[in-house]
Amino acid sequence: MNTNYKIIELPEVDSTNNYAHNLLEATSDSSLCNTIVLADYQTAGRGAYQNSWESKKNENLTFSIIFCPQIEAKNQFIISKMVSFSLINYLKNLKIDAQIKWPNDILVNKKKIAGILIENSIIGSKISDSIIGIGFNINQLEFGNELNATSLSLEKKVLFDVKKELDVFLTFFDELKFYCSEKNYNFINLEYMNYLLGKDDYLRYRDSNGEFDAKIHEIDEFGRLIVKLKTGEQRKFGFKEVELVL
Ligand code: BTN
Repeated sequence: MNTNYKIIELPEVDSTNNYAHNLLEATSDSSLCNTIVLADYQTAGRGAYQNSWESKKNENLTFSIIFCPQIEAKNQFIISKMVSFSLINYLKNLKIDAQIKWPNDILVNKKKIAGILIENSIIGSKISDSIIGIGFNINQLEFGNELNATSLSLEKKVLFDVKKELDVFLTFFDELKFYCSEKNYNFINLEYMNYLLGKDDYLRYRDSNGEFDAKIHEIDEFGRLIVKLKTGEQRKFGFKEVELVL
């Protein structure tokens, strides 16, 4: 097991992100940094945008890392980029080509294999702690049709040792987490862009005014999506303001 982390394993919890929040509320010192809360089953797993995160018992990874990067709050999207890229690298190691769907879904052949829910606490102008929640589909073979999801097992046609895969993932996470602290964001910015779905092609998006085709031009420092239409018009979106129509 990776000795850089203290792992709290729970058979069942409402949400590992909630559990990590409660830990941080109870203990305000830095001893919780690099603690991982790992659950076999979440009764109220949370996804982005108030969605729920469903994951069959014992089949997948559902965990939260308490991460304490020394970064300014205005740069917080770098954490999402770093986590997304570490999942991409983990998958690449298994010879699975994956892409990032802005802001931070991980897709294989346009099907979701992992989701990330990052919840940051800010003191003054800095991040005091970041709860990085990751739901990673490992051995689950059946998903509701509407979910458009996949798993490692569906991709590789073998079953995995779920907890061992957490250990492997952490080696990729460890390799990159220093980029968040060393203010050397360029590498992560470039790699995030490299794996971003829709940076080379015009894809269909939907906003409150309807659907349109656009190509990703840039992700700005706040994590906002800037797209270009065929007419040359640029549009900028914050989280929740636009979705990709897959
Ligand atoms: C998303 O894609 O919408 C984000 C999903 C994040 C799910 C993980 S599972 C572990 C952690 N605990 C939660 O309640 N959510 C995150």
